[in-house]
Amino acid sequence: MKKKLALLLVAAMTVSGLVACGNTTEEAAAPAEEAAPAEEEAPAEEAPAEEEAPAEEAAPAEDGALISVGFAQVGHESDWRAANTKNYQDTFSAENGYELSFVDCDNDHNVQIETVRGFIQQEVDYICIAPIQSAGWDTVLQEAQDAGIPVLIVDRAVDAADTMYTTALGCDMVAEGEAAGNWLAEYLNGEAANILVIEGSVGASATLGRTEGFNNIVAQNDNWTVLDSQSGDFTQAGGQEVMESFIKSYKDFNVVVCQNDNEAYGAMDAMDAAGITYGVDGDVQIISFDATHDGLQYTLDGKITCNVECNPLQAGFAEEVIRKLEAGETVDKWTLVKDEAFVAPGIESQYAVTMSQEVLDGRAY
Ligand code: AHR
Repeated sequence: MKKKLALLLVAAMTVSGLVACGNTTEEAAAPAEEAAPAEEEAPAEEAPAEEEAPAEEAAPAEDGALISVGFAQVGHESDWRAANTKNYQDTFSAENGYELSFVDCDNDHNVQIETVRGFIQQEVDYICIAPIQSAGWDTVLQEAQDAGIPVLIVDRAVDAADTMYTTALGCDMVAEGEAAGNWLAEYLNGEAANILVIEGSVGASATLGRTEGFNNIVAQNDNWTVLDSQSGDFTQAGGQEVMESFIKSYKDFNVVVCQNDNEAYGAMDAMDAAGITYGVDGDVQIISFDATHDGLQYTLDGKITCNVECNPLQAGFAEEVIRKLEAGETVDKWTLVKDEAFVAPGIESQYAVTMSQEVLDGRAY
């Protein structure tokens, strides 16, 4: 069952094109500055339940050897990603029966494809891919299939037919975009909206899905206009840069949609510098996605008015799939990781939880 990891091959991969990738194992994690926010384990009573897969201890392979898992991670672009990486590294630990080969692909699609090829050459037992972009996966997925290695598509989606991989899991990005739009319609209650959108990384299913979902609701509101929509690459610097350029081009806007929390921090910096007020008491309402700890602190403070969660604690779901496959059981083709939305104090919504200190204290990331 166990195909032993060849350390020499890992070294060869590193010098033959994966240098930019930050190839690491669980002992050498993602860059330190991207460390996940402090974790609070016990949710407060009124805090929403965290969606985490049951974390049973994994059974090592029958012969007692560790199960080898290659994880081609997107990169380290956001606080969400750091929390997701930590969750995988904690879950796929040696104590839990795993040997994790973790590669930070630094948001480079070609590096990610070659990383997966490297895992195939290493003959790992399982491959997890968090796809940087949804297109361009057929060839390497076929190679993994030919090698008999089960592939788990995690977090984001691929365009490839679902026969090309074993299972997929993650949040529903279209539903997240629709949740943001539905909340805005409820909040504005017929008032007009001039909207600026800071999108995530180009071609990522998280970007495509959130954009599609939000636009579904825009289409239902005749007096909403999306003035502009540009990629901020899911980073704080990208969010700031796009917002600075929006501010030069548009004077009359009352909603800024940032497709993740880090972009929202950058957008707030740009608006601060331009003297534009935002938040529940300001001229501009900010909608964000991810609902990381810091993002929800801004929501609690009334700076981000609505924050739609994307739960990064997904490794338990992947581990459960692997455990089932090890036991010879069949697995679902798709596992939904549920999430919810949060709004600033003082706002009641049928679509979102009203933020309080208790809710924030009860969060696990
Ligand atoms: O795929 C999930 C998205 O990717 C998160 O919203 C974002 O923060 C991350 O970079």
